[in-house]
Amino acid sequence: MFAIRHAVVTALLLLPGLSVASPQTFPQAVVAADHPAASAAGIEMLQQGGNVVDAAVATSFALSVVRPASCGIGGGGFMLIWDAEKHQAVALDYRERAPASATPEMFAQNGAASQPEDASVRGGRAVAVPGTVAGLCYAAEHYGTLPLATLLAPAIRLAHEGVAVDEFDVEAQHDTLGKLNRFAGYDSRFASLRRLYLNRGQLWSAGDRFHSPQHRLLQIIAAEGRAGFYEGRVAEAIAGTVRNHGGAMTMDDLRTMQPVVRAALVRRFGGADIVTMPPPSSGGVALLQMLQTLERWETESGRSLNSLHQNSADYIHVVTEAMKHAFADRAEFLGDSDFVDVPVRRLLDADYAGGMAGKITLNRTLSQEAYGRFFNRPDAGTSHFSVIDAAGNAVACTETINLTYGSFVVVPEFGVVLNNEMDDFAARPGEPNAFGLIQSNANAVAAGKKPLSSMTPTILVVDNQAVFASGASGGPRIISATLQSILNHVVFGMPPDQAVATPRFHHQWSPNELLLEEAIPDAVARDLQSRGHAVKRSSGLAAAQAAARDASGLTGGSDPRKGGKPAGF
Ligand code: DON
Repeated sequence: MFAIRHAVVTALLLLPGLSVASPQTFPQAVVAADHPAASAAGIEMLQQGGNVVDAAVATSFALSVVRPASCGIGGGGFMLIWDAEKHQAVALDYRERAPASATPEMFAQNGAASQPEDASVRGGRAVAVPGTVAGLCYAAEHYGTLPLATLLAPAIRLAHEGVAVDEFDVEAQHDTLGKLNRFAGYDSRFASLRRLYLNRGQLWSAGDRFHSPQHRLLQIIAAEGRAGFYEGRVAEAIAGTVRNHGGAMTMDDLRTMQPVVRAALVRRFGGADIVTMPPPSSGGVALLQMLQTLERWETESGRSLNSLHQNSADYIHVVTEAMKHAFADRAEFLGDSDFVDVPVRRLLDADYAGGMAGKITLNRTLSQEAYGRFFNRPDAGTSHFSVIDAAGNAVACTETINLTYGSFVVVPEFGVVLNNEMDDFAARPGEPNAFGLIQSNANAVAAGKKPLSSMTPTILVVDNQAVFASGASGGPRIISATLQSILNHVVFGMPPDQAVATPRFHHQWSPNELLLEEAIPDAVARDLQSRGHAVKRSSGLAAAQAAARDASGLTGGSDPRKGGKPAGF
């Protein structure tokens, strides 16, 4: 049976070029974000006497400046907080929601003939009402200790001084300029994105610095709080920009945007309480389904996952089977639980997990119909950071604008990169979304409803103290990456840097393909093929950040796939 291991792992299949040096250990606190300056912003708050939530809010505002392609004040997110003193979890949902004008049919006419990408992906109709500023202000007011202006200070400084561009920025600029140049009309429609975020179309070169156009707006939020964003001149500019791009967001949509405090999902696994995000994320339900299925598979087969060896063909096969069952259920049952009845209790029932475990055969994967209870015929279509302190408090926070630079729509006066979260709905029933996910009516568009998410901020708690905080970015791959980070830590005893760096695999049931990162050997790929898996190679699956606490101190891991670096003191 699983139990959290703290053994040093010596034989690992690592990403090429990854060093196996032990991670730096800190006595007081660690923040692991996907940009070094964002990790440092969080630690600055803790050094000023703030708590983990202060650190999270400062990290998030800093990310809006340094990772504008991934997240920021034009998007939304989930912040999971563990309070070790109160023995209490808070699952703060500041996911974007559909504007009041949204209807289930709004994307039925794809518009593919008139525009190169779906209307749910680019332009004004793709934009859902941003929740990040509401969520961060709420978190600061209810769970933080420092003034909002202090929490915004690092972000404002980074915007003012500029930040050195890194490999991730170069790649995001290259890909996005490629689209603006290739697709008819994009250059003029998305001129603000090009001017404010893509160096006016000039390719970044070594030593260049990016100066965020959010500088003035961050100062307004520091002075006025949430009203500075959701009311008055800024709200007018946001709604006006969305309308100019063919969408229908109103001042009222913005004024009424509030975060929701939800009850976290908790299940026991491997000697820890796994505390994770409920709907409108599908991530927590799917993660717990996968873990429970694996635990039952151990009991029923009499074998342990640990004995299969990390990333062996047997291991990848068994974990993939658990992923396929959970993703099939995601497709049928999951949506915003404020609008549809999501059978969470039934999906997380131990006997239900036993049924899925019983279907796992070691030598063969099954046909697609054998998973879940739902099958679509083929003819029918983010940034995460983790914070932990010595007292066992933690925050796991995932935020998104959905795709790189979201809808491409940027509020010219204030530099807000507006999300394209509407594509996380089942925008066109039967057709897959940008991540290839097929979804049911449970995730149909409706006014005020939140699109189903895969974001899976998760905290492992032992004896009422957090021991591991994790999560990832990467669409549905978030769920499988978070699962693997947890298994790598709990089952294989890896510290967080190795737990997030080790090669990964992913299966989301539909499309029916098993993605393997390049560093997983060909022999393993061939073995999996012989069990019936349609194996496909992938250059990189998701980007995960984790932080851990044990007797020797605090450690963090930022995924080498995205160039972050943890900070601590
Ligand atoms: O909420 C979700 O599931 C998606 N909007 C996440 C998108 C994502 O992770 C993009 N990836 N890097």
